[in-house]
Amino acid sequence: MTTFIPGEPWSTGVARAADGAVTVAGVSVRTLAAQHGTPAYVLDEADVRARARGYRRAFETAFAEIGAGIDVYYAGKAFLSVAVARWVHEEGLRVDTSTGGELAVALRAGIPGADIGLHGNNKSDAEIARALDAGVGRIIVDSLVEIERVADAASVAHPAPVMVRVTTGVHAGGHEYISTAHEDQKFGLSIASADGDSPAMQALLAVLARPELRLLGIHSHIGSQILDPSGFEVAARAVLTLRAQLEQRTGVLVEEVDLGGGYGIAYLPGEVALDPDRIAKDVAASVHASATDLGTPLPRFSIEPGRAIVGPAGLTLYTVGTVKPVRLDDGRVRTYVSVDGGMSDNIRPALYGARYHAEVVGRHASTGTVLARVVGKHCESGDIVVHEVQLPADVRAGDLLAVAATGAYGRSMASNYNHVPRPPVVAVVDGATRVLVRRETEDDLLALDLG
Ligand code: LLP
Repeated sequence: MTTFIPGEPWSTGVARAADGAVTVAGVSVRTLAAQHGTPAYVLDEADVRARARGYRRAFETAFAEIGAGIDVYYAGKAFLSVAVARWVHEEGLRVDTSTGGELAVALRAGIPGADIGLHGNNKSDAEIARALDAGVGRIIVDSLVEIERVADAASVAHPAPVMVRVTTGVHAGGHEYISTAHEDQKFGLSIASADGDSPAMQALLAVLARPELRLLGIHSHIGSQILDPSGFEVAARAVLTLRAQLEQRTGVLVEEVDLGGGYGIAYLPGEVALDPDRIAKDVAASVHASATDLGTPLPRFSIEPGRAIVGPAGLTLYTVGTVKPVRLDDGRVRTYVSVDGGMSDNIRPALYGARYHAEVVGRHASTGTVLARVVGKHCESGDIVVHEVQLPADVRAGDLLAVAATGAYGRSMASNYNHVPRPPVVAVVDGATRVLVRRETEDDLLALDLG
């Protein structure tokens, strides 16, 4: 049978041992399942660190060549725990948070406030107060009313560093729900104007009008799971143009421009992730050209990759239960393979139609393959983990099955649907395992139920 391990979409620490069992950083999935149970998210620590370092080095090198500095913020929404925040910070990244909860994790990890950013289109007063109290390096404001609220919470003696999130009209990414810079959605302030100042320009002027705020820069995030990098270049030019217009108008040249996250990864065998070295060079060349055309000095830049840092580093380990052949209208047979998790630990197939790859990982497969659909244990027919995949014809109850590239937006979007406790996150490095987030128990769930 065809087996893809090792190689993308699996993390670099994934290999198949001689006995057929797959190992992650030297630990057999059989050991992982025996020690931690299934389902479990397994995170390859060295792979996370290498991707964090790889993005930072690629962008630092490419931007140094055009004479600009750059900071890389890890977008914690992809998956944030105390350990992961520390790993990425040790690799030289800062941490981007989008809620008070994510901010709390970053602070618990000991990340200095100055290295944390806070996003959010509807920040509460408590979130704003906490961010100011922690001395975050930047609050990315998302509306005109929020500018006044942040200013009211800050003081002239300690002005809040803010960036204005703008939308450039560039529509990029894998699905409408994860594209964020087209006009008809909730994020940011548009740079387009029907007449008079655009909402983005109004916001920049509003920030400058308040002495309790320090206008740090302009922020643009265009979408997620982007595999065509041209959108970044178009958006960057639009942001640099807005920056130049603000300077002409007010004499203020903002220091920083953030180009957001969204760097796409491989989910299926044969898919090709964006290469950080390539994209860093292309974006650097493009912003250099734009700044030259506009006759403005380059700002300091920042980016916010999330998925590209943790996505490929994670897999989900399940145990197979019921296996059921179903005859399709066209005469083919699809084998429904039920696993012990499902849409509560990975909502992405149901929410976005996201495609994943799975393999039987606990043993060698001696037979041919069958067309399979991996499904969960929830009370919904849409509870699909992998729409279509070839699995060994003798796939059976008790088999260990792994789904690749679930490190981003798996645990972070998990739910307790059907009162299913959420799986643990187990890190593996150099042959050793460590639980980063423990498995939820029924007692955890019942503790919330006051009767
Ligand atoms: N920065 C901002 C302002 C963002 O809104 C996002 C993602 C990121 C950075 C990180 O994007 P990444 O590099 O991870 O693509 N839950 C969806 C993705 C939604 C992302 C929302 N914002 C998914 O599962 O695909």
